[in-house]
Amino acid sequence: MKVRGKNYRAVWMDGRDVVVINQPLLPHRFELLRLKNHRQTANAIKTMIIRGAGTIGATGAYGMAQAYLEGVDIDRAYRTLVETRPTAADLKHALDRVRARAKTAKEAVAEAEAIADEYVERAEQIAEIGLPLVTNGSRVLTHCNAGWLALVDWGSAPAPIYLAHRKGRKVFVWVDETRPRNQGANLTSWEFLQEGVPHKIIADNAGGHYMRRGEVDLCIVGADRIAANGDVANKIGTYQKAVLARENGIPFYVAAPSSTIDVKCASGDKIPIEERDEDEMHYIYGQTRNAKIERVRVSPLKASAGNPAFDVTPAKYITGIITERGIVKPGDIRKVFKK
Ligand code: MRU
Repeated sequence: MKVRGKNYRAVWMDGRDVVVINQPLLPHRFELLRLKNHRQTANAIKTMIIRGAGTIGATGAYGMAQAYLEGVDIDRAYRTLVETRPTAADLKHALDRVRARAKTAKEAVAEAEAIADEYVERAEQIAEIGLPLVTNGSRVLTHCNAGWLALVDWGSAPAPIYLAHRKGRKVFVWVDETRPRNQGANLTSWEFLQEGVPHKIIADNAGGHYMRRGEVDLCIVGADRIAANGDVANKIGTYQKAVLARENGIPFYVAAPSSTIDVKCASGDKIPIEERDEDEMHYIYGQTRNAKIERVRVSPLKASAGNPAFDVTPAKYITGIITERGIVKPGDIRKVFKK
């Protein structure tokens, strides 16, 4: 997608470096960051300099390619990378693929490039397949950031929205701010502004209000892992929106490439849920009047907080899963994506 008229992906490889968009600086600053070795790349995934299931997968694959180039122990590098973010199925999928298919550094780089290209191809297919859902005048609610920053390019949930908008359809998006890290307010809104997609950021607890008033036609969210029974792990707060959508008779779609589907995982109860540092609840980042990016405390100094990064939406609340192979009923995941 374009930033100030120039095409970017969320991550790419340049020589031995992995280059990423430094996402915590957005929307205030657009800066690239060069990661010099697989350890720096693992750290960038862990600290969420890059994030979003597909971008995590592609960055992990590039990190493996770096490990091959560095000549370090591949199994140890694999462990360093795989432990960074436990919920996103794409990370393990990408690391397994590079390790299984590459014998040389050249092959590892080629495999990582193929993985990144596949994300882009699949995102474009998701855009086409989801397009009929985003009709003229649609008001869509989305959660977190599942856009191009999260899937190398295009994105999953917003991909059909981008395409509908580019085709001249009138589309409007309610963007959940997505506490605690505010990926909706910081990243999804910024992406939509680049593309000129009309939208409004809303507090995470406002979605039900707009749904009840008949101002939401459909919800589309991304996914971090989809279990064999169709349960979906996605950013914390997704479950609430799915229940509210059902209560209000609103279709609730999940968009994801097949690399997010983990048929070996029987149900949502088996999905590991990442618990992140409680400081993400206590502090928020923002830009001051003097254009400095600062971190401020929002809770009492002695307060403690819980911070699960994801929740599981049971299959029964999901209308369909938009994949590169079509829109699949959650109950058909096992059948369609069996090994
Ligand atoms: O913790 P994050 O920011 O990596 O979580 C991102 C999400 O939950 C996205 O919705 C999901 O990864 C889909 S990305 C195409």
